[in-house]
Amino acid sequence: MRQVRKAIFPVGGLGTRFLPATKALPKEMLPVVDMPLIEYAVEEARAAGIEEFIFVTGRGKTAIQNHFDSHIELETTLRDRGREDALTLLNGRKPEPGQIAFVRQMEPLGLGHAVWCARNFVKDEPFAVLLADDLIMSDRPMLQEMVAIHEETAGNVVALMEVAREDTARYGVISPGEDDGHTVEVLDLVEKPDPADAPSNLAIVGRYILQPEIMDYLGVGTRGAGGEIQLTDSMVKLIGSDPFTGVRITGTRFDCGTKLGFLEANVAYALRRTDMGSDVRERLRALLDQ
Ligand code: G1P
Repeated sequence: MRQVRKAIFPVGGLGTRFLPATKALPKEMLPVVDMPLIEYAVEEARAAGIEEFIFVTGRGKTAIQNHFDSHIELETTLRDRGREDALTLLNGRKPEPGQIAFVRQMEPLGLGHAVWCARNFVKDEPFAVLLADDLIMSDRPMLQEMVAIHEETAGNVVALMEVAREDTARYGVISPGEDDGHTVEVLDLVEKPDPADAPSNLAIVGRYILQPEIMDYLGVGTRGAGGEIQLTDSMVKLIGSDPFTGVRITGTRFDCGTKLGFLEANVAYALRRTDMGSDVRERLRALLDQ
């Protein structure tokens, strides 16, 4: 069984839903409380044992590169001011030199194409994909749980959640086989099916562990739903050759690709914080009573 050491973070999207905030700022840099969205995904990957972080970026995303780099001037100023607390916070999150790579997706051809752009970094190892828009608040980091399942099955693993029937056209949806209430055998997958055609209401959340053979299928470049090269369409081709397991998320998933989901995530994470949770609760009550 090959270990999962690498993770791909597709961060090339334009974030048009958040304009004007995302005109000059990558949407992945929008903060949930005080940490950018992308860092939640990176921290989740790190907690799952990931050692190499591959970002598939696009034009206007240099803030992400700077975020995961040293900032000598800031560090010097913090040191001069005796702000050891802030320094420790920054240094604890800094990747090791060589752990991070950036590759450009030169055309916005879809999620499958973004993942394929990272093929030369992935080479012949299984890898994880994390979509930062899908923020999962749980006691055990979701990807860690998926890595544990991969260690048992040595196959492909996707995170799942139940969605309302009328929402299937927003997701990749699986056709379930054996189901123990937590893990589900994946028999088939379809990207963004109409509710009438959806094989179930079990939708893919943006966490994947995939075998490297998928890169060959993605390379064919077949267009799917919305005229894009879909990751789901190539995942279908892996079914049969290796086990394919879906795992229901534990905890709460916030769709931070929408304003409502993003706001909800901010409130939920702020309420959980020991340094501010009770104040936030009080202010929210006051606002709601107005
Ligand atoms: C992507 C995937 C889809 C998945 C979803 C999860 O869709 O293509 O299969 O269910 O992420 O958030 P997108 O949200 O990019 O349209």
